[in-house]
Amino acid sequence: MRKLLFILLSGLLSGGIISCGNDGSDGGEESDVIKIGHFASMQGDIATFGQQTNNGMLLAVEEINAAGGVLGKKIELKTEDTRSTTQDAGLAAEKLISQDKVTVLLGEVASSLSLVAAPIAEREKVPMVTPASTNPEVTVDKNGNVRKYVFRVCFIDPFQGKVMAKFAKENLNATRVAILKDNANDYSVGLAKNFQETFVGMGGEIIAEQAYEAKQVDFKSQLTAIKAMNPDAIYVPGYYTEVSLIAEQARDLGITAPLLGGDGWDSPELTKGKFKEALEGCFFSNHYSVEDTTALVKSFTEKYAKMFNGEAPGAMSALGYDAMYIVADAIKRAGSTEAEAVTKAIGETRDFKGITGNITINSQHNAEKSAVVLQIKDGKFTYFATVAP
Ligand code: PHE
Repeated sequence: MRKLLFILLSGLLSGGIISCGNDGSDGGEESDVIKIGHFASMQGDIATFGQQTNNGMLLAVEEINAAGGVLGKKIELKTEDTRSTTQDAGLAAEKLISQDKVTVLLGEVASSLSLVAAPIAEREKVPMVTPASTNPEVTVDKNGNVRKYVFRVCFIDPFQGKVMAKFAKENLNATRVAILKDNANDYSVGLAKNFQETFVGMGGEIIAEQAYEAKQVDFKSQLTAIKAMNPDAIYVPGYYTEVSLIAEQARDLGITAPLLGGDGWDSPELTKGKFKEALEGCFFSNHYSVEDTTALVKSFTEKYAKMFNGEAPGAMSALGYDAMYIVADAIKRAGSTEAEAVTKAIGETRDFKGITGNITINSQHNAEKSAVVLQIKDGKFTYFATVAP
C-alpha cells in the first residue's frame, strides 16, 4: 500500500503535473543532461559491492564527460541505495524510473536484488543493465522468456560453476567435495547447482551439501558435518561477509581442506585482519584480475587509484565502469535517449573492448566472456589462470 502510494505520488510530482508546460529543467525530456540511474548496495551486508561498482561508474562518467559527453550532453549518475535488501532494491528502482526519469537503470550486483528490479524494468519499459549479476534468471525468466529490457555485461553462473568444478577436478585433483551454500541467496543456490552438475559429470562426488541463511554468524554445525566427511575441498559460493566467518570457523575446527568460491568473494573485507590466515591459499573465480598487465587494464587501475585514494578496483569496479561505457556507447549509436532505441542499441553491442574482456551481448542478453581463477596469497587476490567460455 505504502509502495503504491509512493509510486503514485512520485509519478504525479515528476511526471504529469509539473512537466506540463515547464522548460524541462527538472530533468524531463528537454534536459541538458542524460540521467543514468544506479541502484546499489551502498550500505548493509554487501556494501563493498555497491561502493566499488559506483566508483567504477563515477570514473567512467568523469572520462565520458571530459571527452564531451554523449549526444552533446553530460551524463549524470543518480545513485539510490538498496541497503543490501530486496525491499529497498524495488523502491530504489521504482524511484529512479518514476521520479528521476532515468534513461537507463544500472544495477544491482547481487542477483537476488536484480531479480526484484528486472520485472519493474520490464513493466516500465526502461532498459536495465546489470554490471555483475550472474544468475541466469536475471535476463531470462523462469519460463525461458528473454526479458526485453534487461541485459548484463558479465558471464553467467552455469559457466562460472563449470570453471570452478573443472578447476577442482583438474588442478586440485579433488574427487570428494563438500558444498556449503546460502539458501536465502539466488546466486548461491544457482551456483552450487551449476558446480555440482559439472563436478559430478566429470566423475567427482559431492559428499556433503550443507546450507545456511544469510546473516548467520555461527556455521559450526554445518562445518562439523562437513568435517566428518573429510572432503578434498569445500565449495562455498556465497558473499564475502559470511565466507570470512566460515573460513575462520572451519580452521578453528581443524579443517585444512581448501575453500573454493565464486565472484561473491570479491571484497577487500574478505581477508581483512583475522580472516587473512583462514583463507590463505584458497581459490575463487572472478571477472578480472587487478594484476592484468595489458595496457587497457593498467591504465584503468591507475586512474581508479588516483580518483579513490589509492584503492585497488575490484571486479565490480571494472564491471561498473564497463557497464557505464556500454550504455554511453549504445546511446551514441541510438542517436537518442528514447527507451526503445536505447534498448535496441544495447542489445546490438558487439565486441566492445572492456576492462573485463570483450563484450558482445548475445540473444539471451548475456555477455560471453572469459573468467579468471584467483588465489589468495598473503591476503591478496593473485592471478592464477584464465578460462575461456
Ligand atoms: N555475481 C554475484 C551475484 O550475481 C555478484 C557479484 C559480482 C559479486 C561480482 C562480486 C563480484 O550475486
